[in-house]
Amino acid sequence: MIEEKIEQKQETEAQQAPRPKTVFSGVQPSGKLTLGNYLGAMGNWVALQEENRCIFSVVDLHSITVRQEPAALRRQTLEVLAQYIACGIDPEKSLLFIQSHVSAHAELSWVLNCYTMFGELSRMTQFKDKSKTHADNVNAGLFTYPVLMASDILLYQTDFVPVGQDQKQHVEIARDIAERFNGIYGNVFTVPEPRIAGTGARIMSLADPTKKMSKSDKNQNAFVLLMDKPEDIMRKFKRAVTDSGSEVRRGEGKHGVNNLIAIYSAAAGCTPEAAEERFAGKGYGDFKKAVGEAVVEVLRPVREKTEDLLNNKDYLEKVYTQGAENASRIARRTLEKVYKKVGFIKKPF
Ligand code: TRP
Repeated sequence: MIEEKIEQKQETEAQQAPRPKTVFSGVQPSGKLTLGNYLGAMGNWVALQEENRCIFSVVDLHSITVRQEPAALRRQTLEVLAQYIACGIDPEKSLLFIQSHVSAHAELSWVLNCYTMFGELSRMTQFKDKSKTHADNVNAGLFTYPVLMASDILLYQTDFVPVGQDQKQHVEIARDIAERFNGIYGNVFTVPEPRIAGTGARIMSLADPTKKMSKSDKNQNAFVLLMDKPEDIMRKFKRAVTDSGSEVRRGEGKHGVNNLIAIYSAAAGCTPEAAEERFAGKGYGDFKKAVGEAVVEVLRPVREKTEDLLNNKDYLEKVYTQGAENASRIARRTLEKVYKKVGFIKKPF
């Protein structure tokens, strides 16, 4: 009797339980990941997978908007996949796949190109920036990059897109495209929302803390890579630029110290206030050493796990094969709906 009741209760609760939200994000395999990627993005995604349907992609199609060396691209694609897992993303809980394995991304992208205006793409700040930094190769893919990204997001009926501040504009154009398409054809796409990460969202360069930490920086000491060895990490923090003054305390215009405190608190898992208290009366030298040590400790397991995984290619292949199958199944449903709505004849096979 009591068992029956419990079962009944469980059933109604299951019916009432809100639909889990779909989360989608992607990382380009166009180089090495930095501490900024980890603290600002991937590290935060781990917590999301408990309550949501999470889908994470290695977006290799995006990478070729900038010229890549084929062998390096292949290596980096597996490295990013391994790093996702090493950061704590569990392939049993989340869907992990390589973008080029799911052809629906390229297919939806073509359709959505026809629902995106030249003018709105011209306003994208990343396009404007990249046209400057890659002035010799301002290709059409670079221009339509946001449409491919919108396709990534919309294919999975995504609710939330966790990204860094620099990608917010791209999520907004994905919303605009979804709303425009829905306006013409009815509710085809879920309209996604950006989720900008809190702490560590913007990790700045160690050499010039007014600029974002970037792996393409010419100065090797400006960034910390996820795969850097402890001695390299320590050296980079030792050389990190601080400000005039000597107190370990945040303040307006104190870009160097502000950045190091942000990094320390994210790495050591404390508030910036607690970090300031811990270093009251200490000099910059001690502080920078402590930041380096905290970073070494958070990155150590990630680096070791990544190395293990890269030595186990069979496992990685299993993960991305399964991921491609599952992602294709979900993506195809949306693509078929879109094809039908725009007036294409149903594919006979
Ligand atoms: N443009 C993103 C970046 O460079 C990567 C990306 C591609 C992405 N497709 C996406 C991020 C979809 C979130 C959702 O960081």
